[in-house]
Amino acid sequence: MTECVDLSVELAGVRLKNPVVVASGTFGFGREYGQLYALSELGGICCKGLTLHPREGNPPPRIAETPMGILNSVGLQNPGVDTFIARELPELRRHDLAVIANISGNTPEEYGVICGKLSEAGVDLIEVNISCPNVKAGGLAYGTKPELAAEVTEVAKRHASVPVMVKLSPNVTDITEIAKAVEGAGADALSLINTLRGMRIDVNTRRPILHMNTGGLSGPAVLPVAVRMVWEVAGAVKIPILGMGGVAKGEDAAQLMLAGASAVAVGTACFDDPFVPLKVRDGLTEIAAAQGLARISDLTGGVKPW
Ligand code: SIN
Repeated sequence: MTECVDLSVELAGVRLKNPVVVASGTFGFGREYGQLYALSELGGICCKGLTLHPREGNPPPRIAETPMGILNSVGLQNPGVDTFIARELPELRRHDLAVIANISGNTPEEYGVICGKLSEAGVDLIEVNISCPNVKAGGLAYGTKPELAAEVTEVAKRHASVPVMVKLSPNVTDITEIAKAVEGAGADALSLINTLRGMRIDVNTRRPILHMNTGGLSGPAVLPVAVRMVWEVAGAVKIPILGMGGVAKGEDAAQLMLAGASAVAVGTACFDDPFVPLKVRDGLTEIAAAQGLARISDLTGGVKPW
């Protein structure tokens, strides 16, 4: 029965063979997971966030467990866009999956330069990260103000010759304001949600657990927030949405699609079980088959609000 469901979806004109991609920062560039299963089983990979120059990230400790999730303050550790293009992209291109490059910049111009390089190198889609909570320059500063979010989007679009998807922060009062500003500036798609700012404290030392004091919360705890925000954004814009936040099984992914996502990303759950993206794909397919759907895309926006 499940083989009757057409799993392919489209995200900003990019065809994904199935709607499950892996979220940036939880899958590296696929090298380690690629030893466990064929990356071409995935619809796509959002690569670890890239910056113009290599970054070591924040000092440790930068990961802490929480009930139903983790806090991270990694700080965009990455080898830099040029090394990605030279070493990682050719490796990824050996597999049949969409390659989505996640990028961050200190200035709008830096986003533009990175978009130019990645377009020329031939990624399928660029995910513009304006929502990293763990850096002093750029990051959340761009993702929480509609005019700055629009400015970064406009510069990215001007330099990119591949579709641009903007990754939104949940750390705002009204996410639809940012979504509309970014759509107005020409974004081809949106991805949401990035992590929620949080903090843990060691009561004996009275020190925060993370060296940066605060970090971004991800994992199953954030799923209902993600579903709510995808639903709100889907009602406010026309461009497609890559939904993410706490997806660990097919039902979670189905909720995000019913809320309005065209595709979903699996992130933190990969740390528990590297095979979760494949289990999510299969679970999603079973739900669609049980509901007699011919296409997985028939789930998108299908919620029936009271
Ligand atoms: C990080 O590297 O700090 C995480 C990236 C992000 O949350 O956008």
